[in-house]
Parts: sequence; structure tokens; C-alpha cells
Amino acid sequence: MHIKPLLYVVVGARPNFVKAAPILSLLEKESDMQFKLIHSGQHYDYAMSKSFFDLFQIPEPDYNLGIGSSSHGEQTGRMIVEFEKLFIMNPPDMVIVLGDVNSTIAAAMAAVKMQIPVAHVEAGLRSFDKTMPEEINRILTDHISLIHFVTEDSAVKNLKNEGITGSNIYLTGNVMIDALLSIANDVKASSILEELNTEAGTYSVVTLHRPSNVDSLEGLKTCIEFLRLAAASGEVIFPMHPRTLNSIDQHKILKSFREIPGLRIINPLGYADFMHLVGESMFIMTDSGGIQSEASFLKVPCITLRDSTEHLITVEKGTNILSGLTFDAVSKAVIKSLAFDKVAYSIPKQLDGRASERIVKVLKEFFK
Ligand code: UD1
Repeated sequence: MHIKPLLYVVVGARPNFVKAAPILSLLEKESDMQFKLIHSGQHYDYAMSKSFFDLFQIPEPDYNLGIGSSSHGEQTGRMIVEFEKLFIMNPPDMVIVLGDVNSTIAAAMAAVKMQIPVAHVEAGLRSFDKTMPEEINRILTDHISLIHFVTEDSAVKNLKNEGITGSNIYLTGNVMIDALLSIANDVKASSILEELNTEAGTYSVVTLHRPSNVDSLEGLKTCIEFLRLAAASGEVIFPMHPRTLNSIDQHKILKSFREIPGLRIINPLGYADFMHLVGESMFIMTDSGGIQSEASFLKVPCITLRDSTEHLITVEKGTNILSGLTFDAVSKAVIKSLAFDKVAYSIPKQLDGRASERIVKVLKEFFK
């Protein structure tokens, strides 16, 4: 063990950068612990990676493994190999992993096989849908982690149901909200509405990138139906993930997307612009995970095009409507979203923006 405990914080894909930012900014001020930031290189485009470092003033990674894109097995396998090399070369006292992406499980796996303790931020979330690669990553990471930082009560219950109990489960809250609050001024100052020449409250925002929705031609055709539903109530702004764009290209179906009246496909946005756009929208339609919490915090109705969600609190107490993937259900969800009463709504107390503070406190206690 180092005189000052050495923590490795591992990031790799877009949502990781947001979740790590508030924790890193607190760790930078800590004199009792030292940390290094490791980037797996899972995401590498400016919009998918560096733009988040710039916005959140995240320090340059100490190591970038440069893994890049490939199939799940190859990507995860190559990451395990490279993480292990790094952990052998310069062993940390703990590895902190976040969320549910391939970089999360790869780093956790490499660490635990070397008896390096792993702390998992956003532990215990379950969609109970094992067709999602993220669900597999979540389950496996939780079962090999020593410390579990949990966002909501349902996650504590999920861990217990899987036999993960004990004193190392901490209900700390959702770090994404800490991140969002830390850039509140940038979000407010964003001129994205002027740039897109649109007005607050007149449009919806759509994001779609889950393999189950966008990888097949059939899935893309269903997406077109849902986009048409959203477009019936106003302009639809769709910042498109590269995975979705690649698949549309491959299936030669861009023309059908372009024919949807009122649909605007744009490049992925910077995070502050994206949050501003969401905050001023009528509703969001998405298959993403994190956006469900962000929308609940921003008081914007969120139609989640899935049958299950790992962020249960956003459905029970937040603005999330789990619509599933049938035309009728999505149609009803759009009607419900348009009738949403912002005044009567109050943000769930778990989304209080103090999660990173609690996490760093636990880490300090752990190494005392
Ligand atoms: C990953 C995460 C997902 C998360 C999403 C956020 C896993 C299993 N999935 O999905 O949970 O919600 O990130 O974006 O880890 N690509 C680029 N530029 C990049 C990165 C990717 O063009 O910088 C393209 C490549 O064609 C790549 C594809 O996007 O093959 C998919 O990238 P990958 O990281 O494998 O998965 P995501 O779909 O981004």
C-alpha cells in the first residue's frame, strides 16, 4: 500500500466522463489520497470524449489505453489485457469504476484477479433485461466489487436479492446530477436554441443508440414510426450517435428518416448544449439510461422506449414514462408527456447533487 492510498479512476465511454467529473474534482482537493485517471479509449471522437474533458475541466488522463471500437468480446478482452499490464506496472490500492459500459467490467475484472479492491459507482441498478450488454456488465461488476455506491433504494434491494449484502453498500445518490449542477452556468449560457433556430417549448429531443433498437433494419423501421409520432406534436431534434448513423448508412435507410416531416438530424452535441436543449424541450424520447435521471432533474417528461428501466426512481417519482416499443403505448406516452404539469412536480430527493461528496467521504474512511 502506498503511503497515500493510490486510487485509479477508470473511464472509457461518454457517460463515464460525466459521472467521474464531480468525483475527480473532489479527489483533486484531497491531501490524504492520490489518484490517477485511466481512459480505456473506448470512445475517442472529440464529441464523444474530449469535449467532456474540456467542459468539466477533467485533467488529462494519466494513461490512455487507446482501445477503440470493435465487437464486445474483442473490445472487452483487449481492455482486460491492457488494464492488467498497467496494474502490474504500477499497482493501485483501489480501482474505481463507474456505470455499466465495457470499460467498467474490463477494469473491474483485471483488478479483482490481482486482488486489487474495486469500488463500483452506480452499483445495483438492474433492468432485468439480459439482452442489454449493460445489464451483463452491471451484474458482473457488482459481484466482483468490494464497495458499492448506490443511487437509489431499489438498487440496494437488487444487490441484496443477489446475495450482495454487508456494510460496503452505500446509498450515496446520483453523481450525474452533481455533474449537471457543476456546469449549470454553461448549460444556462448555451446558445444552442439560436444556433438551431428553434424556440423553447416547441420541439422534442430524441436519442436512440441501443443495439436492440438501431442495429437491425426492423429496429430502424420501428424507430421511424416513433419519430413520426413525436413529430406530430412539433419539431423533433435528433442528435445522432455514431452507432445509429453507421447502421442507417449500412441499411441504406437515411432517405426514410429524411422524409419524416419536422425531423432534424444533427451531430452529437456537447453536454452543456445537450442539457440546455433537453431542459427547454416539450419532452424527450430516448433509449438511453442516464437521460432518464437528467430529465427528471430538469423537470422534462421523458419517454423511455424500453420495456424496463434500471432507474426505477425516475418512473416512480420522476418524469420518466416507460413506454415499451408498441405504437399504441408510445402514442399514449406522447399524449401524457404533453399534459405534464411542471408546477405540481417535485424532483425526487435522491437527485440532490451531493453524491460525489458522500462517495469521497466513504473512500477516506475506508483508507483511515
Ligand atoms: C457505449 C456503451 C453504452 C453507452 C454508450 C454511450 C457499452 C456496452 N455500451 O455504447 O452503454 O450508453 O456507449 O455513448 O459499453 N463510435 C464512434 N466514435 C467513438 C465511439 C464509437 O464513431 O468515439 C462508433 C463506432 O462505430 C463503434 C460504435 O460507435 O463501433 C459503438 O461504440 P461502442 O463504444 O462500442 O458502444 P456504444 O454504442 O457507444
